[in-house]
Amino acid sequence: MEIKSILKYINYRLTSYTEHDLHSPFLFNFYMELIKNEHPFGDFEELNAIRTQLESDNTKITISDFGAGSKKLNTSTREIKQIAKHGIAQKKQAEFLYRLLNKFKPKNVVELGTSIGLTSLYLSKALTKSSVYTIDGCPNLFNFSNELFKKVDTTNITSINDNFNSALPILLSKIDSLDFLYVDGNHAYEPTMAYFKSALHKKNTNSIFVFDDIYWSDGMQKAWKEICANKEVTLSLDLFKFGIVFFKTENKQKEHFVLKF
Ligand SMILES: C[S@@+](CC[C@H](N)C(=O)[O-])C[C@H]1O[C@@H](n2cnc3c(N)ncnc32)[C@H](O)[C@@H]1O
Repeated sequence: MEIKSILKYINYRLTSYTEHDLHSPFLFNFYMELIKNEHPFGDFEELNAIRTQLESDNTKITISDFGAGSKKLNTSTREIKQIAKHGIAQKKQAEFLYRLLNKFKPKNVVELGTSIGLTSLYLSKALTKSSVYTIDGCPNLFNFSNELFKKVDTTNITSINDNFNSALPILLSKIDSLDFLYVDGNHAYEPTMAYFKSALHKKNTNSIFVFDDIYWSDGMQKAWKEICANKEVTLSLDLFKFGIVFFKTENKQKEHFVLKF
């Protein structure tokens, strides 16, 4: 980790709240059920076993990079095990996303950045009756993840092999509402703001948008600040790894919290 990132993380840890600092019932429950809760769901065992398999998979894959790249993986040919260990949401993060979906039950879920498909599986298994749309520009990752979806026998994932820039507006024009958005690719200011603004057209008052790696770069931090400041956003939560925004109308005043994750 670079010094700048370490300092940002120290500042985050020193300023973040735990359940003891949260007075609103919504936030207290959010913290206890989604962050502090270590009780596993039944699906976690299978998902963990898939993760372990992927973490020892020596298959080599050539990546076409459509986004801002990776800080840890910078070659175009990578082993699946390297991607599983360093290029996707880790266990704690993926389990948090599963719990988030399980609690709020969004109908249409969109993931920007499929990679090898493991987090898509968490989203799919959390809500088997919902529709999970996942987009990735890299054809080899698209093929690999589709094979994984077939092996696991999921029926609620639609995967799209295209650039987010063109695929997201097309997908949004086809769905009646966007209930959950997980932006996990192309971590740079302009594209992040473009995805956010285009997604706003299909949000409803119960929608939740999650942005991965909000401290990844100065550009991402700038994007995150602007997203929080947007007048449609009523509540924003900074978990360092994730930035989460809500559009709930019962929030009379805009609120922002930094939560220890
Ligand atoms: C961090 S990985 C996604 C990890 C995945 N969500 C997980 O946790 O399992 C980011 C992915 O986004 C894809 N990507 C980045 N920018 C893109 C773009 N502009 N269009 C399409 N795909 C893009 C990359 O190919 C990469 O596979």
